[in-house]
Amino acid sequence: MKVLAICGSPRKGNTEWMLRKLLEGLDSAEVDTELVLLRKLNIKGCDGCLACEAGGENREGICRIEDDMQQLYAKLLDADCMVFGTPAYFEMVSGQLKTFMDRTCPIWTKLSGKPIAGVAVAEGGIGQAIRNLRTYGKVCGMRWVGSVTALAKTPKEASKNPRIERRLRILAEKITGALKAS
Ligand SMILES: Cc1cc2nc3c(=O)[nH]c(=O)nc-3n(C[C@H](O)[C@H](O)[C@H](O)COP(=O)(O)O)c2cc1C
Repeated sequence: MKVLAICGSPRKGNTEWMLRKLLEGLDSAEVDTELVLLRKLNIKGCDGCLACEAGGENREGICRIEDDMQQLYAKLLDADCMVFGTPAYFEMVSGQLKTFMDRTCPIWTKLSGKPIAGVAVAEGGIGQAIRNLRTYGKVCGMRWVGSVTALAKTPKEASKNPRIERRLRILAEKITGALKAS
């Protein structure tokens, strides 16, 4: 079993810490985990050519933009479960995460049935950020497992709150249950 976490924060901060803690709770003999830091990758915006979709000139589900997204397609298809993490930016997912989501266009129909969970951090109001993640999962036909949200402003704030750590452990248990059920 493989769980792939995607971190949509442009800094080494709360979202990354939450995802690392969550994956720690999942690490076991049966579960392989990997954390992808979008901030370290060069992922350009989708240019809307739609060549990746059936009926387009390129029918193989391949994106023609040659950047670091190319190395993520196989990882996404290979994963048995995904966790998306984002800071709330204007009460929505970060631009980095949205850019990544848009670029999953060549493979989104192949994600159907996979479990998905989310974490989000905001200074004062999560707003639509978790709803954005759920909507992505719904459009792709994925199975929503659950989420953890945290209120924090400075990069290490969430890590000082034991209640968040406890909630991440509970989400890890839910993910383990979803993996066993699939
Ligand atoms: C561009 C930008 C927009 C933000 N918008 C919001 C917001 O709408 N609501 C909020 O409560 N916090 C907002 N914040 C604060 C961040 O969500 C907060 O600092 C969070 O801890 C960042 O998570 P990170 O440490 O994982 O990057 C914003 C921060 C930035 C840089």
